[in-house]
Amino acid sequence: MFVHKMTERVWQLPAVHWNRRLFDALIPLPDGTSYNAYYIKGSEKRVLIDAVEPALEQGFLEALAGMPAVDYIISNHAEQDHSGTLPKLLERYPGARILATPKAKPMLVNLLHLPEGAIQTVEDGETLSLGDVTLEFLHMPWVHWPETMATYLREEKILFSCDFFGSHLATSSLYVPDEWQAYEAAKRYYAEIMMPFARHIRKHLERLAGYDISVIAPSHGPAYNRPAFILDAYREWVLGEPKNIALIPYVTMHGSTEIMAHRLADSLVAKGVNAQLFDLASMDIGKLAIAMVDAGSIILGVPTVETSPHPYGVFGAVLINALRPKAKYFSIFGSYLWGTKAVNTIQSLVTNLSAQFIEPVYVRGLPRKEDLEALDRMAEQIAQGHRAAGLR
Ligand code: FEO
Repeated sequence: MFVHKMTERVWQLPAVHWNRRLFDALIPLPDGTSYNAYYIKGSEKRVLIDAVEPALEQGFLEALAGMPAVDYIISNHAEQDHSGTLPKLLERYPGARILATPKAKPMLVNLLHLPEGAIQTVEDGETLSLGDVTLEFLHMPWVHWPETMATYLREEKILFSCDFFGSHLATSSLYVPDEWQAYEAAKRYYAEIMMPFARHIRKHLERLAGYDISVIAPSHGPAYNRPAFILDAYREWVLGEPKNIALIPYVTMHGSTEIMAHRLADSLVAKGVNAQLFDLASMDIGKLAIAMVDAGSIILGVPTVETSPHPYGVFGAVLINALRPKAKYFSIFGSYLWGTKAVNTIQSLVTNLSAQFIEPVYVRGLPRKEDLEALDRMAEQIAQGHRAAGLR
């Protein structure tokens, strides 16, 4: 495993998972990922910030063997892709103390069966002197677990942010090699992991505005030596108005719901709204999540199977509800034959949105002329709403 020297006293140890293609048995990783640990050699104390995914522990431990012993291991986040190697690290460095937030301590004990006595909690704003340099711990809950924090190295102006600002992007570069590629990867990461917590992220961004940051060093993907690139992107995703885009995720069995999806899209475009269609049976969840960051409206197309909504439609509804996009309008369309509970079921699954609910268009069998005209009226309502809100 290679390491990157960042400064005279800071190294990045990136365990690059080039061929990983799925995270949490859910999230596609088209570009792989990395789990970055960081080593800091102060004049008196040595620190490791975060660990790596256990699957890559061998290379990580070999890379660490070339470093002097560790006095502290900072666990910014208890999830196993950053903490899973902690038991092995304690075996190697039995005198080391693990530093974590009070909320992280029981998580580390429960997830990894670490001895409680090995974990020392740190308060928000607490500092740790390493001799010639000082670390400051910034509690930043809900990026994306309740226990998360970042660590700031004052003298070098480096923010170690763990998942926050991360990206699933396997690369041998220490810093972002290509901002266009990094933007897509970071937006995908934000959409899949961070978007449900936009309200918390807003506060963290305000707090970080008071810090002089030269480098943001996350624990997934490349570091940012131009922090404004990722900070500005986050401000746009979190604080910006949605765009004049109607997102239409749908699934179809014999084509009726697909006919409706295309009619709705055509009608929206004719009325000045951009439309994006996603087939839930074959789409990339990450692409759909990215589209949700910007969507002004989301209209979910779900046919009925027997009397229930198609399972892929249920999956779409659960995903939309979990990711909590900032869309202003939400509705449902689809087709059934002899009976249906689809609209009520889908509506009951999407309760987290602040979006206005538009009357669904749900039709029996193949859509007729009047059904398609009902979709035109839905499109008009969305277009008027986007215009009134000034969406661009
Ligand atoms: Fe990268 Fe939430 O772990």
